[in-house]
Amino acid sequence: SNPSILILPGDGIGPEVMAEVRKIIDWFGTQGTTFDVSEDLVGGAAYDKHGTPLHDDTMARAQEVDAVLLGAVGGPKYDDLDFSVKPERGLLRLRKEMDLYANLRPAQCFDALADFSSLKKDVVAGLDIMIVRELTSGIYFGEPRGIIHEGNERVGINTQRYTESEIDRVARSAFELARRRGNKVCSMEKANVMESGILWREVVQKVHDEDYPDVELSHMYADAGAMQLCRWPKQFDVIVTDNLFGDLLSDAAAMLTGSLGMLPSASLGAPMANGRPKALYEPVHGSAPDIAGQGKANPIACILSFAMALRYSFDMGEDATRLERAVEKVLADGLRTADLMGPEGGTPVSTSEMGDAVLAALSA
Ligand code: NAI
Ligand code: MG
Repeated sequence: SNPSILILPGDGIGPEVMAEVRKIIDWFGTQGTTFDVSEDLVGGAAYDKHGTPLHDDTMARAQEVDAVLLGAVGGPKYDDLDFSVKPERGLLRLRKEMDLYANLRPAQCFDALADFSSLKKDVVAGLDIMIVRELTSGIYFGEPRGIIHEGNERVGINTQRYTESEIDRVARSAFELARRRGNKVCSMEKANVMESGILWREVVQKVHDEDYPDVELSHMYADAGAMQLCRWPKQFDVIVTDNLFGDLLSDAAAMLTGSLGMLPSASLGAPMANGRPKALYEPVHGSAPDIAGQGKANPIACILSFAMALRYSFDMGEDATRLERAVEKVLADGLRTADLMGPEGGTPVSTSEMGDAVLAALSA
């Protein structure tokens, strides 16, 4: 049967950028790879129709398909909604129920955009690293949590908690990835001051020694890692870290490469019966209400997210690379959505013009 995709365009610029991915999916159909595509609502769009940011039927469908592609959720229209039905809850429910524990955030610098980085050009030119962030555990979820009264003041409490199996599985994701890339993993924690960090380091080392001795492994304290990431990011290939440090490090790494409109992500879970991992692909950016509906959104983050789907869900690594090269080509040709328009200028293009150009480069 054909590989299956559930598309959830969501809100704001979500549907605009997803329309460009749709063109690429359809093109693959003409080349002999037909995807079974279904489309549904998530976030505010789902709330408007169903009174919930993710309908149960949509959740069930997400569990069945080979990959979910999500645009973005949220917007000012929904800011005053009750927390339980906020658009973000739709996304959180997907991540939680699909148990997507490995969040992959590449930081890749396209040569044509090297001037865009806040760092010196030689520090970022050709950069291609991958941060693997544990996504379903750690301090954002650990119990006990809450604000309690102690004596005559209040105390805010969160708990950093990691089980061996939670560390083990995300470490495996990182090592598997490294084997398909530069064969190098750097694990980051704070084993000097945190118990969970000590366990993290020990388990990552054990997984390495037992099953991935061929991959080069190093350990670094996360604060030192943050410094190294800014000083000389090209020393890294795959970085694996916990939920909290990964949140910070991946956002910092993202800015090495320029615009939010360029950043893809993947969230992967355990393998399904067909061997493919549970998977959700989405651009890092949000629904960008300030530019929604104006044809200004950069569709590249969403397109590159689809490239990740080709590589990690559909074993179409060569096609993924072709798609990435097509993006590189249009950037080298000087095409720029508004967010990419730097001092050097370029040819201004709309969302759909950018999508068309990538498709033209892909099919050339
Ligand atoms: P945002 O990422 O939507 O926008 C931040 C800035 O970057 C804006 O100026 C926007 O115009 C620009 N931008 C973002 N994506 C772009 C693209 N593809 N092309 C060109 N410019 C782009 O973050 P913001 O403004 O903090 O949040 C807006 C809404 O999105 C909120 O409701 C927020 O909760 C939601 N959000 C949703 C996320 C998701 O669906 N995963 C992630 C982050 C925010
Ligand atoms: Mg963050």
